[in-house]
Formats: sequence, C-alpha cells, structure tokens
Amino acid sequence: MRICTVVGARPQFIKAAVVSAALREAGCAETLVHTGQHYDAGMSAVFFEELSIPAPAVNLGVGSGTHAQQTGATMTRLEAFVDEEGPFDWMLVYGDTNSTLAATLVAAKLPVPLAHVEAGLRSFNRAMPEEVNRIVTDRLATHCYCPSPAAIDNLAEEGITDGVFFTGDVMYDALLRYQPVARKRYPVDNIVPYGAGEYVLMTLHRAENVDHPDRLQHMMDNLEVVPWPIVWPQHPRAKARLDAFDVAVPERVHVIEPVSYLEMLSLLDGARLVLTDSGGVQKEAYWSRCPCITLRSETEWVETVKAGWNTVVGADREKLVQALEHVPETPPQPHYGDGDAAATIAALLRRGPTSSSST
Ligand code: UD1
Ligand code: UDP
Repeated sequence: MRICTVVGARPQFIKAAVVSAALREAGCAETLVHTGQHYDAGMSAVFFEELSIPAPAVNLGVGSGTHAQQTGATMTRLEAFVDEEGPFDWMLVYGDTNSTLAATLVAAKLPVPLAHVEAGLRSFNRAMPEEVNRIVTDRLATHCYCPSPAAIDNLAEEGITDGVFFTGDVMYDALLRYQPVARKRYPVDNIVPYGAGEYVLMTLHRAENVDHPDRLQHMMDNLEVVPWPIVWPQHPRAKARLDAFDVAVPERVHVIEPVSYLEMLSLLDGARLVLTDSGGVQKEAYWSRCPCITLRSETEWVETVKAGWNTVVGADREKLVQALEHVPETPPQPHYGDGDAAATIAALLRRGPTSSSST
C-alpha cells in the first residue's frame, strides 16, 4: 500500500503527525509531500521537529500568492512529482486549504483514489475560501473521513453517502498524546509573563477578519472590552496586514511569534478564555475545558456551541461583552471520537479504495 500524503499548512502538519505514525504502525508506505504553502520556520519546520514527523520526500516550494497562484503552482508541481514517483494507491489530504484543493484536483484527474481527513465540515458560507475547498474535496474524494456525526449529515445533504466514514477527529488524538508532554515541557510562565488563569489566549488570522483595514481596526477596537491581558501568537498573515494597513494593536495585547504545538497546548491549558477565528483552536479549547469565543459569524464545530463552551460573536462588540460573562453550565461532553481516529483512518486506507461506508 503506497500513500502519497499532501500537506502544506500548519494545522495539516499537526494532523499528519498522528496519522503518519498510525500509517507506519499499519505497515503502509507513506510519501509525504510538503507543498510549501507555509514556509517560515515557526509555521512549518518547528512542527516537523517537535512532533517527529518524517522529513517530506519533496517540498514543492509554492509559497504565498493569490488563490489561483497557490493552487495552480501546487497542481503543476504535484502532478509532475506523482508522475515521476507514482503509482500510488491513495492520495491523502487534510482539511480545507489551497494545498488540499490542489491535491484533490490532481488526484481526481491522474487519477489516484483520494482520501479526505476532516471531511463533511461546512460553514455554509461560500464567501469563505475554505468552504469552496471543502465542497470540491468532499465531492471528489473516494473516502471521506468525518470527525463528527454532523459532518456525515452534511455530506448526506449533498448526496454524498458512498465511502463516508465516521472516524473521529485526529486533532483529538494529537491533543491526548501531546498535552501531558506540553504541560511538563512548557510551563505557561516560561512562555509568557503570566500564570495560569491570568490571561486570555487569542488567535486571529482568517481573511474575513484581517484582510480589510476597517474590519481589522474594528477587531482591534473590540479587544478594549476584554478585562484581562490577551496573549496573541500572531499569524504572519495578521502581522503583514497590521503593518500594511498601519493598524495598531491595543496595549493590553501581548503579541508573541507563532508558537510550537506543545507551547500552544500549554497556553491553552492555562488560559481563562480563548478568543479565536481558527478552526482547530475552538476544539482544543473545548477539550482543554477552556471557554471559547469565536470571532467569526459561524462555526463548523457546532457541537462546542451546543454544549455551551463556544459562543460565536463575529465582529459584534455587544455579543462579545455578553459572551465574556457567559459561564458554561455542564462539563464538555465526549464529541469527535475516542482519540483513535488516526488508527481508524490507517485501517481504512489499508483496506483499499473499494471499502464501502460504515455509517
Ligand atoms: C491558510 C489556510 C487557512 C488556514 C491557515 C492555517 C487557505 C486558503 N487558507 O491560511 O484555511 O486556517 O492556512 O494557518 O489555504 N505567510 C508568511 N509565512 C508563512 C506563511 C504565510 O509570511 O510561512 C504570510 C504571507 O504574507 C501570506 C499570508 O501569510 O500571503 C497568508 O498565507 P496563506 O498560506 O495564503 O494563507 P493563511 O492565511 O496562512
Ligand atoms: N497553533 C500552533 N501555534 C500557534 C497557533 C496555532 O501550534 O501559534 C496550532 C493550534 O493549536 C491548532 C492549529 O495550530 O492545533 C490551528 O492552526 P490554525 O489556527 O493556523 O488553522 P485552522 O485550524 O484555523 O485551519
């Protein structure tokens, strides 16, 4: 069984860390392709080193650009790589980035059977580039690996029922594996000048929040209502936009460089609250029993909202004020599987593309 895995962005390295390990245990041969979409050491190399991810067979060196530039360059270079190094039994992709979309289109046309980890998520907002990427990927995938029953329902609504599997969320596997290590290796006050419970953790990088000067200014102004220090590991996209638009960050915000996954888990563990527009961080907050406020108009992770641990406020200051006062009433419930998603995925891949749904 030869699997070509394509990753390119930060959250995909974290997901691939646990799946790659499971593939090795299952005796599958994996060829890892890094598209080069993320390239700063703190956005890429740090994850490979810290999580012992095997070095990629190739880095396609695609880098930053418009959606078409990124997607097109990845397609051209990936197709040539697969022509040279193939045949593969599977192309394996994660999530909803431009790297995911490009690999999907290459796989569909070569063709190579395509397996999609984190399938079936929907924001129902097609203005979001990631939503377009997910819809296309799920439509063309041979296997869709869903992290939640809601994701399976979303696919069924679109008529996608063949090759759909509930696997649970590989990010839960990663958190279970690495949180104890994180706590030991990176006490919070070694990373920031605050102790546990003394700060809010923020991530903000989504195009809708940072790509327009007025919106970015508004998001920064809204932070005035947060009564605690805010720790912000700043994504390079946000940094670039703040600089370009000359928007200042409020004083209560403690900006740091992007952190490693273990540092991030430790920061999550010690935060009294999370403010985020990231997908992954909403669930990590939930699993860490840290209330979350989502700075987007909608979320794909609806279970965390229903459970009372995540409040979606977008850019609305009044909603943010109310959410800051909200206290979850019940403990987090087990959602997103049992922490064995990676092993389940490896077993499904091993069975081959003809295996049918188990839903
Ligand atoms: C991408 C994904 C997004 C995901 C995020 C994870 C798409 C459409 N978006 O967004 O879904 O949540 O990754 O972090 O694929 N930059 C650097 N150094 C880097 C990488 C990026 O400076 O190593 C800067 C560049 O200015 C670049 C900008 O960040 O133009 C945006 O990078 P890009 O990869 O296009 O999208 P992300 O915002 O990272
Ligand atoms: N993350 C990290 N360092 C940071 C910020 C985030 O390791 O400085 C981790 C975070 O814990 C989560 C993943 O990166 O596991 C989320 O990535 P991101 O927010 O970039 O993308 P999204 O989930 O929104 O696609």
